[in-house]
Amino acid sequence: MFALPWDFQTSVTDMSNLPDAAGIEIAFAGRSNVGKSSLINALTGRKGLARTSSTPGRTQMLNFFVAPESPLTIVDMPGYGYAQAPKDLVEAWTQLVFSYLRGRPNLRRVILLIDSRHGLKKIDLEAMALLDKAAVVYQVVLTKSDKIKPPALTKLITETEAALRKRVAAHPVIIATSSEKNKGINELRAELCLLANQ
Ligand code: GTP
Ligand code: MG
Repeated sequence: MFALPWDFQTSVTDMSNLPDAAGIEIAFAGRSNVGKSSLINALTGRKGLARTSSTPGRTQMLNFFVAPESPLTIVDMPGYGYAQAPKDLVEAWTQLVFSYLRGRPNLRRVILLIDSRHGLKKIDLEAMALLDKAAVVYQVVLTKSDKIKPPALTKLITETEAALRKRVAAHPVIIATSSEKNKGINELRAELCLLANQ
């Protein structure tokens, strides 16, 4: 499925413009700059598909990506926790994201990205609380695993697994990835293929 030619479908800034809820949707969420867009590019093998940037707050809309014949739609979400964003913009994003999470019937799973260097922060726990409340299953994927040493990564995985056990809607399996070094990408692809074929 990830060998298909993935393409940009649409960008959405309000709920009335959402594309039809066809197929199975997987949304990528996480703090600003955590590596959501980079991971989507690594998964689809298309470098410039989702726009990446070293400036946090690059993705400000819900961006939808599709491939012909693929049962999956991939959604790149605006990052949260971007301190420099203007307040009214933050409110608009938050509202859009909340209403999307709660109201999208074909949203099957949220891939919740956590930076390997930082681990779970307060704002991630807040995002998890929201997902628990919206009853959307979320799976933690660690990003930028190339930035920390293997023992530190193992420790982080153990700690994060323990934190997830306390949550309602968390998927227990954590995948560590590096979009830069192409690590964990096939593992995540396999997980998403399983979902698509259910
Ligand atoms: P927003 O859209 O602003 O929320 O950011 P994002 O989560 O989409 O992050 P993006 O993919 O734009 O990446 C942010 C920065 O992290 C860029 O400078 C990327 O090059 C870098 N980055 C992403 N993935 C990796 C990775 O696996 N390893 C390393 N070392 N850097 C990465
Ligand atoms: Mg982005």
